[in-house]
Parts: sequence; C-alpha cells; structure tokens
Amino acid sequence: MITVESLTRRYAGFTAVDDVSFTARPGRVTGFLGPNGAGKSTTMRVMVGLTAPTSGSATIHGVRFADLPNPGLEVGVLLDASAQHAGRTGRDILTIAAATMGLPRARVDEMLDLVSLSSVEAERRVRHYSLGMRQRLGIATALLGDPSVLVLDEPANGLDPAGIRWMRDLLTDFAGRGGTVLLSSHLLHEIEVVADDLVVIGHGRIVAAGPKEELLAEAGTLARSPSPRDLVRALERAGIPSTLAGDGSVRTDADAARVGAVAAAAGVALTELRSAEGARLEDMFLSLTADTQREGAAA
Ligand SMILES: Nc1ncnc2c1ncn2[C@@H]1O[C@H](COP(=O)(O)OP(=O)(O)O)[C@@H](O)[C@H]1O
Ligand SMILES: [Mg+2]
Repeated sequence: MITVESLTRRYAGFTAVDDVSFTARPGRVTGFLGPNGAGKSTTMRVMVGLTAPTSGSATIHGVRFADLPNPGLEVGVLLDASAQHAGRTGRDILTIAAATMGLPRARVDEMLDLVSLSSVEAERRVRHYSLGMRQRLGIATALLGDPSVLVLDEPANGLDPAGIRWMRDLLTDFAGRGGTVLLSSHLLHEIEVVADDLVVIGHGRIVAAGPKEELLAEAGTLARSPSPRDLVRALERAGIPSTLAGDGSVRTDADAARVGAVAAAAGVALTELRSAEGARLEDMFLSLTADTQREGAAA
C-alpha cells in the first residue's frame, strides 16, 4: 500500500506538486497518468525519499521510505533507467545491489533470466545498452529484493511492442500475487491496458482518480459515418440526443445497438460503431496536454 497525503512540493515559488492525495492498493496496478511536467516524477521521488516534500507525506505500508530498515526488500524502484553507472556491466549492478540488500548471488541470475537479459548482454557495460535493455535491467534491480510494492516511473519508455507486452504481463502477475504497483506514464493507452485504478495528474493537481471501470463508465457510444450530420438528424428523429465532435465522430448516451438500428433504418452508412470507452478520459487528458504545450513545459 502506498499512501500519499496532501503532498506539496515547491521549487523556488513554482508548485510542481500541489496538495496531492491518493492511495495505491495491494493487488492492484495503479496507473499514474499525466502529461510531461505534470508532477509524476516529483511525486514518485518524494515516495522513495529522493526529494523532500514541502508539506504533506508519502508512506509505504504506513512508513516513510527513509524509515524502512531495508527498503529494497519492501519497495522496488525504477525511476530513471539511465541513472545506472554507465561503466559497470549489468551483472555488476545487480551483484552490488544484491550485496547491499544482503541477498544471495544466485538471485542475480534469477533476475537476469526473468527480464530476458542474456549472459552475454549481462557482461556488457551499461553505456552500450539500449534504453529498452536499461529498462529491463532497472526492472531486474527493482524486483531483486522480492518487494511487495513497485514504484516505476515511465517503465515502458524505450521498450519495443514485445517488451511492453512482457512488462504488462509481469506487472499484472505481480499485482495478482497481492503486490502493489504504481506506474506512471504520459500515454493514456499504455496505462489503460494494464491499470486497475487510475490517478490522473495535471499541473501538479489530481484531476481524476478511481477504479478504471468507473472512470471509463457512462461513456456512451461513438459512431462515425461518411455523412455524420445525417446520422445526428436520424438520431434526433428517434429521440436520441447526440453531439458531433470536432473530429467528425458522433457521440451519444444511447447504446451501440440502438444507434446501429437507427442508422440502418435511416439508410445512413457507418464506418465505426463502438462503446466510447475512454473517450471522456481521453478528452480530459488531451486538454491537459494542450495546456502543457501552450506553456512550453514539455520534457
Ligand atoms: N529540481 C527541480 N527544480 C525546479 N523545477 C523542477 C525540479 N524538478 C521538477 N521540476 C519541475 O516540476 C514540474 C513537474 O516535473 P516532473 O515531476 O518531472 O513532471 P513529470 O514527471 O510528470 O513529467 C516540471 O515543471 C518540472 O520542470
Ligand atoms: Mg517524469
């Protein structure tokens, strides 16, 4: 369990994290979603004791990270995969981490296996690793101490599609065994497929939080047609209010079967008809991203 309570972090008058509260629960994957510069990394750095909060707190199982006797056995952390010592080999890094945590050396090979880094790759210096290999090594380091909590900042960056699938399965499995997973991303779809709960942050503030199903519910139906205005009119005649979005899609609260029937009866062709799941969240997310870009605060 991770508990963040009224967390605020200011940098010289600029508020990077503004009164943030949420929990990441055991047995769940919690997606921490927000555009670049939203405050995700700052929040996670406070969680693992790398940044001091201006006010408020973050605790792991009720204890501040700094007060955990052997934190690596409780919390697996991957913040910046490129922060590893570039001159060391992957195996060195894991061996040193294992020694620090008082773990047997055999654990190193287990972890290399788990993240599919070959013995040849493990002997290579990290400066010659691709970003994806660094992410895999970072995951191996995070899992080394068999922790019950994982804090991962943009872990899918640099992974190829197979790697992303692998990571998703690994995190789902970890949570399935009762673990707590908090992972951040600036990509809605990446989070949507893996998360059970969502915490959405923009400009340092939480803008939405809750179980994914709840946040995506009541989304209604999305339809596309070569003649969207005809579709809107046909729906109106059938007593179904709808809106024509800027991208040409038609959205309504009626279910897809009803929209399809009305379109068929009116002779309006459809090119797409589906539950508008995620549309609301996506709209909210896009508006956050647009704000961020206007302020030139990307990166
Ligand atoms: N050490 C720092 N000094 C000044 N500003 C910082 C510092 N760290 C982060 N920030 C600012 O805080 C905001 C949030 O950053 P960050 O937490 O890295 O966002 P995210 O991880 O969501 O992209 C950004 O505007 C960033 O520039
Ligand atoms: Mg970040």
